[in-house]
Amino acid sequence: MEAEQNRHFGDARFVLNPCSHLSPDDIAYFRSVLSPSSIVQDADDLETFNNDWLQKHRGQSKLVLKPSSTEEVSKTLKYCNDNMLAVVPQGGNTGLVGGSVPVFDEIVVSMSNMHSIRSFDPVSGALVCDAGCILEVLDKYLEQQGYIMPLDLGAKGSCHIGGNVSTNAGGLRLLRYGSLHGTVLGLEVVLPDGTILDNLSTLRKDNTGYDLKQLFIGSEGTLGIVTGVSILSPKRSRAVNVALVGLNSFDNVQAAFKRSKDELSEVLSAFEFWDKAAIQLVKDHLLAGANDPLESLHPFYVLIETSGSNKDHDDAKLTQYLEGLMNDDIVQDGVIAQDTTQIQNLWAIREGIPEACSKAGAVYKYDISMPVPVLYQAVEDMKNRLIQKNAIGESKLFTSVIGYGHVGDGNLHLNVAAHEYSKEATDLIEPYIFEWTAKHAGSVSAEHGLGISKNNHLHYSKSPSMIQLMKRFKQLIDPNEIMNPYKYLPDQ
Ligand code: FAD
Ligand code: MLT
Ligand code: ZN
Repeated sequence: MEAEQNRHFGDARFVLNPCSHLSPDDIAYFRSVLSPSSIVQDADDLETFNNDWLQKHRGQSKLVLKPSSTEEVSKTLKYCNDNMLAVVPQGGNTGLVGGSVPVFDEIVVSMSNMHSIRSFDPVSGALVCDAGCILEVLDKYLEQQGYIMPLDLGAKGSCHIGGNVSTNAGGLRLLRYGSLHGTVLGLEVVLPDGTILDNLSTLRKDNTGYDLKQLFIGSEGTLGIVTGVSILSPKRSRAVNVALVGLNSFDNVQAAFKRSKDELSEVLSAFEFWDKAAIQLVKDHLLAGANDPLESLHPFYVLIETSGSNKDHDDAKLTQYLEGLMNDDIVQDGVIAQDTTQIQNLWAIREGIPEACSKAGAVYKYDISMPVPVLYQAVEDMKNRLIQKNAIGESKLFTSVIGYGHVGDGNLHLNVAAHEYSKEATDLIEPYIFEWTAKHAGSVSAEHGLGISKNNHLHYSKSPSMIQLMKRFKQLIDPNEIMNPYKYLPDQ
C-alpha cells in the first residue's frame, strides 16, 4: 500500500496494514468476473471515488470495481481476501466521517450497479431491495404504493440504502419511525471470505438465535459488504403539515418540544432546530428553494412537521399548538406552509444547512448526542472557548460556530467553520469537544459513525471491555483486515 500520509489534518497515526499492491494478475482476474464497464482505472474517473463529500479526505485508489450482483461481490471479496487486497465499500459517498474513501490505495467496491427493487409486500410494507438503491428512488417507488421510507436525510438524492444501513443513519424522521436497528427486517451480506450470508427475512418477529444483522447495521463496511436490504416501510400519511417558528432562547426550543409531545403527540413526525449562525449561512449562500419566510432574524428556529390521516384534525391541532406557543411568548414568529411548494421550501432551509456549512470554507463537524437540556450548551461553550483563545473572527482561525440538529433525538450537529483545515485549529477543538461530551454522558457520534474522523475517540463513549469485544468480532469476521482498514476501531 502507498504510505502517503498527506490526507489528514492534525494527526499522523497510521498503522499500516500488510496489504498488497495491485498486480496485472489481479486486474486480469477482475476482468474475468466483472463486465469491462464495471472496472474503473481512468485517473479522471477515479477522482470522485477518491474524494469524500466534505472534500476533506482523499484517497489514491487506482481501481474501482462495480459489481452487478451478489455473486460478483462474493467473487470479488474472496479474491481480495485470498490475495490480501484491502477494500473500501462505497455507496453514495455522502458519509461525513471519511469512511467511504480509501486512506491509501485500497480498492473501492462501489455498489452503484446494484439498484434493483427485489420485492414489495403491500400488506406488511416489507420492501426488499439491492443495497445500491438510492434512498430517494426507493421513497418515490413507495409513494406510488402509499408507503414511505422510514428514514429521510438531506443526502437522499445520492445516498444508498446500503450506505444508510452501514452507517445506521438517523435523519429527519427518526423521532417518528425509530432507528434502522428496528426497521431493518433482514440483510444479505457478503463476508470478506466471499460467504453470502442470506438473512433477507421479511418477518416482523424472529427470535431464533443471535440477531446477526444488527452487527452489520452501523458497522461501516468493516465486516463485509451489504448487498441486499429488507426494510419495513410505514404507510404514507395522507395529511402533512410543516411549520417554521422563530424563538429567542434554547429554553424556549425545549418548551416548544415538550409541548409538541403533549399536544401534537401521535401526529408529530419531525422537530428540527437550527440557530442564527446556520440561517445566516443558508442566506449567504442563497441555496436554491430555501427562502426564509420569517421577517427578521431569530436566535433559534424550529421546523415542526405533523403527519396524520385526517387533515382537518391535524390542522386544528397544529394551529392550536402554535397559538398556544405565541400566546405564552414561547415563539416570536411563525408560518405554516400552505401547499407542497411551501413545505418543500421550509424543508430546503433545514436540509440546506450542511451544504451551506460546507461552503463556509473548512468545516469541522461534530455529531454528538446528549440529554436535551444541555444540548445547546455545547455550542455556547465552544464559542466561549474560541473567544477566550482569541481564535474566532474574520481574520482569525475560525469564522463561526453553528448549531443545528434533531432535538427529538437529543442530537446536536456542532459545526465549527474555519478558513482552512490545520493542526492548530484541530487542537483548539479536540479533544476538548470529546471530553465535554463524555462529561455530559453523551456519545461522540450520534448518527454519522466513526470512519477515520472519530475511530480514535471511541473510548470517550465506550468502555475498554466493549472496545475489546468489538476488536474480537472484527478479528473473527475479517481476520486479514481487508475490510475498510484504518477506520472505525481505534488504531491501538
Ligand atoms: P457512503 O458515504 O458511501 O459510505 C458510508 C460508510 O458506509 C462507509 O464506511 C462505507 O464503507 C460504508 N458502506 C457504504 N455502502 C456499504 C455497503 N453496501 N456495505 C457495507 N458498507 C457500506 N446522516 C445521518 O445519519 N442523518 C442525516 O440526517 C444525514 N444527513 C446528511 C445530509 C447531507 C447533505 C450529507 C452530505 C450527509 C448526511 N448524512 C446524514 C450522512 C450520510 O449521508 C449518511 O451517513 C448516509 O447514510 C451514507 O450513505 P452513503 O450511501 O452515501 O454511504
Ligand atoms: C443533518 O442532520 O443535516 C445531517 O446529519 C448532516 C449534517 O450534520 O451536516
Ligand atoms: Zn443529522
